[in-house]
Amino acid sequence: MANRCNGTQENCDIPSKRSRSLDPHVTVVLGTQWGDEGKGKVVDMISHKADIVCRCQGGNNAGHTVVVGKKEYAFHILPSGVVNPDCVAVIGNGCVIHLKQLFEEIEQNEVKGLRICPSRLQISNRAHIVFDIHQKADGLQESVRGKNLIGTTKRGIGPAYSSKATRNGLRICDLIGDFGIFSEKYQHLVEYFMQRYPNLEVNVEADLKELSELRDRIRPFVTDTVLYLHDAVKEGKKILIEGAQSSILDLDFGLYPYVTSSNCSVGGVCTGLGIPPHEIGEVYGVVKAYLTRVGSGGFPTELDNEHGNLLVDRGHEYGVTTGRRRRVGWLDIVMLRYSNMINGFTAIAITKLDILDVFEEIKIGVAYIIDGQRMESSFPATDEDLKKVTVEYITLPGWKKNTENVRSFKELPKEAQNYVNKIQELMGVQVKWIGVGKARDSIIDYN
Ligand code: GTP
Repeated sequence: MANRCNGTQENCDIPSKRSRSLDPHVTVVLGTQWGDEGKGKVVDMISHKADIVCRCQGGNNAGHTVVVGKKEYAFHILPSGVVNPDCVAVIGNGCVIHLKQLFEEIEQNEVKGLRICPSRLQISNRAHIVFDIHQKADGLQESVRGKNLIGTTKRGIGPAYSSKATRNGLRICDLIGDFGIFSEKYQHLVEYFMQRYPNLEVNVEADLKELSELRDRIRPFVTDTVLYLHDAVKEGKKILIEGAQSSILDLDFGLYPYVTSSNCSVGGVCTGLGIPPHEIGEVYGVVKAYLTRVGSGGFPTELDNEHGNLLVDRGHEYGVTTGRRRRVGWLDIVMLRYSNMINGFTAIAITKLDILDVFEEIKIGVAYIIDGQRMESSFPATDEDLKKVTVEYITLPGWKKNTENVRSFKELPKEAQNYVNKIQELMGVQVKWIGVGKARDSIIDYN
């Protein structure tokens, strides 16, 4: 018989309070701003030390780019760490997957030389499926928003997460289970969407035929990734989690409704993979040296002038997935402090420092004034408030030198060093890497 607990350590069979793992093997990389910070390159760099690379949220609305030699890979739903041949890629339960587009992405990367077979890609049986009706509904929803566009990629991600919350969504485990039951549930889902969008064009029979083919193709990739990752943690394997989108696009903490439909801050790692918080070790934040935003809404440090055009041109600030021109502005420390409060970054990577190489002066937004009140860390909850912000800036001298071939911190121009140190000081988080170019090796270790 088990000992009854008498409140002392000796005979208590309730395990003592868990402490954080002494040597946590789970590393997380997250965006700190409005996305497109260059997380793909940071993940690619760290993935060399990882056994497993995971996506925990979002769908193929992300757009990571990884440049290896002369080849440029674009990943949307696949974890970008898949470029490392020694890594197993995991798409977790928190993700939503459009199966046909997943296979298209696999094929596009295989043409470039990557091999993505079931032993290299594990997909959660609990992940929800994005159907064509979700994508059609996404387009219709966006078209009736008029000037209040959210700026969705129309990949059906929001409607698929809505189905998940409505509890009429379908998961990968449904598809590979009894196809008769799956077909019935699919029919119900279609009826639900037809009630809301009577003009939707759907051919259930053709859809089910296609889905039954996809079912056979996906089956070898599907597993219980919760157990898979649990075992991997126990075996001491190194796990890397790559965030898609970014903290200010987080469904809860971002600038609602101009947000994505999942949690892209650190909490999404636990809910989207089933990894307990105490297993998480390093949480790296990726900070682009300036700021970009896609779609409408407030943007306090926006540069709607020739400086902005220069940033767009030099930084190639166009969406990987949509080709849309991004809005650009100076770095916003208020946003970064808020992002750090939510995620507790253990260090940051500053990317695209080289894009600032040509500026005479560089500004950093250090505080917001809203209705006479000064804010240094807390971020407005509404877009209306964000639009009211007046920004307090500091101005630093630019360096006007090419940094692309610099490979050590001390070789950076003094002004560039000052800029990096200033970000570290104002944000209160240690800098670990500095990106100075697109290529895989265009990165500087801060220490
Ligand atoms: P999202 O998940 O959509 O937010 O993508 P992301 O954060 O991975 O950003 P993305 O892959 O779109 O990266 C932006 C671009 O910046 C890519 O073309 C990268 O190759 C490039 N890039 C990354 N780091 C640097 C850098 O330090 N300097 C320069 N010039 N380009 C960089």
